[in-house]
Amino acid sequence: MFNKIFTVLVVVIGTAVFVLADEPADKKAKAVAMADEIISMRSNLAKTFIKPDTEITEETFKKVCGAVGKRVKEITEKEGVKIRHAATKYRNPLNAATPEEAEALAQFSKDKKLKETADTVEKEGKKYYRYTKPIFVEEACLACHGAKDKRPKFIIEKYSDDKAYDFKVGELRGVISVMIPIEGGEK
Ligand code: HEC
Repeated sequence: MFNKIFTVLVVVIGTAVFVLADEPADKKAKAVAMADEIISMRSNLAKTFIKPDTEITEETFKKVCGAVGKRVKEITEKEGVKIRHAATKYRNPLNAATPEEAEALAQFSKDKKLKETADTVEKEGKKYYRYTKPIFVEEACLACHGAKDKRPKFIIEKYSDDKAYDFKVGELRGVISVMIPIEGGEK
C-alpha cells in the first residue's frame, strides 16, 4: 500500500516538475537571455572593431555581423532553438521580413516603448514559443549600414539586392526572434 502511494506521489511530483520547467516563463527567460546576448554581442563588437579611421573590409564584417551569424548558428545547434533576424530593409535576402514580421517591425518602429513581443508560431508542423525584440542602429553600425554610396566595396559587390543602408542612429534596424519548441507541439 505504502509503496503504491509512494509510486503515485513520485509520478505526480515528477510530472509537475517537468511541466513547471516547461512553463512559458521558463521559455521566456531562456529566449530573453539568447536575444540579449546576440544584440549586445553585435553592439560590443561594432564598438570594439570600428573606430573613425578603420578601413572597413570583409575582415571587419567577419568580426562584427559575421561573428554574430556564427554565434547564432552555434546557439541554434546546441540548444535546439531557431533564431531569426528579419528586416524590411534587409541585406541578406534570407532575412527579408515576411508580411507578419513586417507588421511586428512597424509596431516596434511606431512605439519605441514597446520592448518585446511574444507569441506562438508553427513552422514545418512544429509549434514554437516565439520571443521577438527590436534591434536599433548605433553609431558604429553606420560604417556598413550608413549612406548608400559610402558602403564598403565588398558589400556593394556581394549584396546585389541590398536594402540595409541609409539608416540613422536610433532607427529600427530589424528584429531578432528566438523560437523555442513547445514539447508536445508536433502535429
Ligand atoms: C563591417 C560591416 C558591418 C557593420 C559594422 C555592421 N553590420 Fe550588420 N550586416 C553587415 C552585413 C554584410 C550583413 C549581411 C550578413 C549576411 O550575409 O547574412 C549584415 C546584417 C545585419 C543584420 C541582419 C539582417 C539583414 O539585413 O540581413 C542586422 C540585424 C544587422 N546587420 C544589424 C547591425 C547593427 C545593429 C550593427 C551595429 C551594432 C551592424 N549591423 C554593424 C555588415 C555590417
